Amino acid sequence: MSPYFTKLNITVSSDGLLLDATKMPVLKYYDAAQKHALRARKQFDNYVAIPNATYVPREEDAQALLQHLPKELVEIEMPDLWAMNIRPQHSANVLPAHRDMTRLASVTFFFDTHGEETSFYEYEGANLVKVASFVANSGDVYLLNNDKVHDVRLAHPHIRKSLGFSFVTTPFEIVHEKLRAAGLAD
Ligand SMILES: [Fe+2]
Repeated sequence: MSPYFTKLNITVSSDGLLLDATKMPVLKYYDAAQKHALRARKQFDNYVAIPNATYVPREEDAQALLQHLPKELVEIEMPDLWAMNIRPQHSANVLPAHRDMTRLASVTFFFDTHGEETSFYEYEGANLVKVASFVANSGDVYLLNNDKVHDVRLAHPHIRKSLGFSFVTTPFEIVHEKLRAAGLAD
């Protein structure tokens, strides 16, 4: 199994879900210049980092999406649903390399996608080396290891919209094990 991400064996329609974060309260703002982003900007061309935020989606949407998670997983940790809307302002915009400060793993629902690439990195010496990546289609659901360094190459001018269940105290491996036991992951 990949230690970075797993595509889940489910597809979810965005029908009825609110994805537009301009209608949601802000949960937290994130700076564009975390330490891994500074390293990436030294190494990579056309790497224009963008700040980001998480938002609080509607409770009814959280309840609807929660139906996709196995009971055995939710018993370990009841995750909150966070929304993201990343708005590129430049053709080279990236959500820059970072480890999530506020969660270990997430089950993320991608909607309205336009070829954005999510990449994972490890350090070799002082350098970041890309070790895995994926491009999600609209309706795809991924388990992500947010404790590994990752970035997202955006698709200007399209706003990247996603909803994700955040596991704050449960590591990727444990979430994966429960999803696999329920037949949702390989
Ligand atoms: Fe992240």
